[in-house]
Amino acid sequence: VQAEKNGYKYFMLKEIFEQPRTIEDTFRGRIYSDEGRIYIEEVKLKEEYIKNMSNIYIVACGTSYHSGLVSKFLFESFAKIPAEVDIASEFRYRDVILDEKTLVVAISQSGETADTLAALRLAKSKGCQTLAVCNVVGSSISREAMHVIYTHCGPEIGVASTKAFTGQVTALYILALDWACKRKTLTIRELKKYLKELWEIPLKINKFLKNSQSVYDIAKVFANKRGFLYLGRHINYPVALEGALKIKEISYIHAEGYAAGEMKHGPIALIDKSMPIVAIVVKGKIYEKIISNIEEVKARGGTIIAVADQSDKEIGNKSDYVIYIPETDEFVSPLMTVIPLQLLAYYISVILGCDVDQPRNLAKSVTVE
Ligand code: G6P
Repeated sequence: VQAEKNGYKYFMLKEIFEQPRTIEDTFRGRIYSDEGRIYIEEVKLKEEYIKNMSNIYIVACGTSYHSGLVSKFLFESFAKIPAEVDIASEFRYRDVILDEKTLVVAISQSGETADTLAALRLAKSKGCQTLAVCNVVGSSISREAMHVIYTHCGPEIGVASTKAFTGQVTALYILALDWACKRKTLTIRELKKYLKELWEIPLKINKFLKNSQSVYDIAKVFANKRGFLYLGRHINYPVALEGALKIKEISYIHAEGYAAGEMKHGPIALIDKSMPIVAIVVKGKIYEKIISNIEEVKARGGTIIAVADQSDKEIGNKSDYVIYIPETDEFVSPLMTVIPLQLLAYYISVILGCDVDQPRNLAKSVTVE
């Protein structure tokens, strides 16, 4: 039954709209925000190990790699664990320094991606503890890892990943909070606050999805552009990469995701009147910085499409188009900011008449190297 489109034109659209529910499915029964308690039954890493863990290596491909990049911020900021993220096909051919105090986290929707599986096997052979974040129950990666946390998103049929990304970010968010709790790197007050922020996300996404007409209007304006630039910073830099990946995958339009502060070292040369720039400018640590990056773009004639908090009164004056989203804490914001980017790619793909669910040359799961 889950594999039916339920009246949606494409699986991808159905899967985008399912996210309020699938995110909840990922955290339900695992977090108790009033008490500030987290309980992840399946992950049986010893408390002693969690306290003494020296570092985390996260390996994945494609969209799963982007959720890994988001989680780096969470492991560092919440649990104070040094975290590195690597593309699985790179990791496996490097001389990575690993030992039994290193935890290797393999993220994979399908649990069958060949490079991620090989990276996991390599980590095991070096004596590391291994943990998989998977969606498909019983998949190779979930079976071979020592520990597994399932995202419980249900089958994802659209080749371009959407709900699996938000499920992975949710699972990694609660893992980072759980370890922060065990390592005593967050106060109970902070823990409750971050849990509450997550708890409220499904409602906020729902609210946005009900009013997402602006995304379609913007898609109509920009569907015929030859290229896009996506800018983000801090924890939303990986979301910029993910937004660009979505457009490439299903609309065949060239797009680049960039760390906004790095723009002046190259991509700024690309900017002219015909270049749309999607900028994620939610409130947080680097808000002022990204605003000044936008001003640099505007000064060179670029067209800014901002993804910004509803409460942001200034952004309308600084950008050409704004997609307003409900305000969230910055650490949970990727779950919100990615939604309009998924939708934008979806609408552009539909407008261009592309095959949304089965884009050319791509496979849902890449089981060969
Ligand atoms: C393929 C899919 C992507 C996916 C990537 C990793 O490229 O088209 O959507 O993100 O594989 O897949 P995994 O199942 O390991 O998350």
